[in-house]
Amino acid sequence: MIDISRFDLRPLTADMPLLPFCCADKDLNEFLTQDAKNYLEEMMAVTYVFIDPDKQQIAAYFSLLNDKVAYDPQSKGIWNRINRHIHNNKRRRSYPSVKVGRLAVGEEYANSGFGSIILDFIKREYAKGNRAGCRFITVDAYRDVTKFYEKNGFEYFTTLDILDSTRLMYFDLKNVKEQLKGN
Ligand SMILES: CC(C)(COP(=O)(O)OP(=O)(O)OC[C@H]1O[C@@H](n2cnc3c(N)ncnc32)[C@H](O)[C@@H]1OP(=O)(O)O)[C@@H](O)C(=O)NCCC(=O)NCCS
Repeated sequence: MIDISRFDLRPLTADMPLLPFCCADKDLNEFLTQDAKNYLEEMMAVTYVFIDPDKQQIAAYFSLLNDKVAYDPQSKGIWNRINRHIHNNKRRRSYPSVKVGRLAVGEEYANSGFGSIILDFIKREYAKGNRAGCRFITVDAYRDVTKFYEKNGFEYFTTLDILDSTRLMYFDLKNVKEQLKGN
């Protein structure tokens, strides 16, 4: 398991020089170099980078934006499952969420637990509760990466996207909140 405490975690800012980054996915490399600052400027996503201070390169990054998990009449079974964990008088047609818009670990740091540690970090940060209510984490997971999210406790929102290039998955932060209370 990689020790991520040796990396510097920084929110991307407009004037931050972009250090090199290379992961296995070309689109995710391009997002960081060409688009992440535009999303920031338009207030549509905030990107966070883990800098390797020894190599002066970005080891991993993720970006976050507000989202909602909303009732879909075509996926009633899954909606009932979600609602089972929510108090009767607090049940709604949609719930506040945060979306992991992008998550990428550089090739030389991949498969050593980095991605999972990042997801645990996001889970803890949002479960602690901060400025706004947020019950779920969502992600549009690349179809060939869904196993990674499954291993990190994410579930599928619908079976209707089973053949799509990405699948909508969610994680209930209430579980983490309960764990934090126990510690
Ligand atoms: C996918 C990615 C974020 C995973 O991060 P990582 O640090 O390599 O993953 P971890 O080491 O935390 O892996 C945790 C588990 O998920 C599995 N896993 C990792 N990447 C996977 C993948 N692409 N497909 C299926 N399973 C994967 C691992 O085998 C591991 O399982 P194990 O505990 O049984 O060994 C990273 O490999 C990456 O950035 N890949 C390229 C970009 C990408 O596809 N991003 C996802 C966009 S949705």
